[in-house]
Amino acid sequence: MKKILITGGAGFIGSHVVRLFVNNYPEYHIYNLDVLTYAGNLENLTDIQDKSNYTFLKADITDENAILELFKQYQFDGVVHLAAESHVDRSISDPLAFIKTNILGTVNLLNAARTIWKDNMEGKRFYHISTDEVYGSLGETGLFTETTAYDPRSPYSSSKASSDHLVRAYFHTYGMPVVISNCSNNYGPNQFPEKLIPLAINNIKNNKPIPIYGKGENIRDWLYVIDHAIAIDLIFHKGENGETYNIGGNNEWTNIQLIHKLCEVMDDLLGREKGASEKLITFVKDRAGHDMRYAIDSSKLMNELGWEPSLQFEEGIVKTVKWYLANQAWMDNIISGDYEHYYKEQYQDR
Ligand code: NAD
Ligand code: TYD
Repeated sequence: MKKILITGGAGFIGSHVVRLFVNNYPEYHIYNLDVLTYAGNLENLTDIQDKSNYTFLKADITDENAILELFKQYQFDGVVHLAAESHVDRSISDPLAFIKTNILGTVNLLNAARTIWKDNMEGKRFYHISTDEVYGSLGETGLFTETTAYDPRSPYSSSKASSDHLVRAYFHTYGMPVVISNCSNNYGPNQFPEKLIPLAINNIKNNKPIPIYGKGENIRDWLYVIDHAIAIDLIFHKGENGETYNIGGNNEWTNIQLIHKLCEVMDDLLGREKGASEKLITFVKDRAGHDMRYAIDSSKLMNELGWEPSLQFEEGIVKTVKWYLANQAWMDNIISGDYEHYYKEQYQDR
């Protein structure tokens, strides 16, 4: 039985990846390693937590010894590495947390894998999940490809860029069987309400202002989280060692257009008068160093591995809103904790 380690599996994307691997591969044992930061939530996985091919391991990837011990104990055959500090605004307030988890944590995992695999790398794989933000910010035209030069501009994207470089260095220097993917903005069920879409859904539901940074003209390329998880499955199994694959939704929206669409969907699903939720839109002080536009060219992944997004945004956003409305208890558990403090810190002076 293959033993696959998924890091950050209690988070947003990680939980969808864990579920997909546990359900699709009964011949694998899936180990979900997560330290359960504010973003980690085992409620995301209640439907699969009792499966016989699933084990949760509470551990911190910044703890070099603990990570090495777990690799020695379980002898993982493959790693899908998602654990990270993931929110740009938090990286502006506290960059060091991002350096520790995203850079040192990744190196600890690489070192531990190398220690147990060094005599035989056959059939092993270290898959590092990264972001399109490493490529920097686009102007009005153009797309990020796998050969676009790195130009990260936030502490978050810089820490992810650094970890990508280190993963590639382990391929070239030690022959580690690595693969990397860089994905655009994800949306869907289980996303922590610090990110734009779930934050806006929660505020609209509660008739609170929807904070839009600057003029709302920044552009993001949105992909439904399950389509990302499907791409991860494909790349983990079929990707070439040493290669990078870009993953994107071919789905660009300015933030303000997206919020208009979201308001329309929510008015409909909440039975509100048309145009009611739009009144909550509030322009606030811009994010420092706010990247203007991200957009991904996924043609390598589509042509070489046959991936394509399964959901159009119009359908995905309705599914997403329905999920949040049907899972109010999930949201309540989050917003009743430290979230209130976070929200005040981030938004009171904007
Ligand atoms: P998330 O913040 O929802 O989840 C991160 C998870 O990692 C949490 O469960 C957290 O507890 C865990 N974690 C954090 N620090 C840890 C540590 N020191 N040790 C062990 N576990 C730790 O993040 P997400 O949005 O699901 O993103 C997952 C990965 O995908 C990240 O690597 C991120 O850079 C990448 N990514 C995210 C997006 C996006 O739109 N969200 C897009 C592209 C790439
Ligand atoms: P976010 O979801 O934080 O993702 P990222 O910064 O990784 O792209 O933000 C998406 C876009 O929405 C980004 O341009 C910043 C903007 N934004 C707001 O306008 N208001 C908000 O309250 C948040 C969280 C984000």
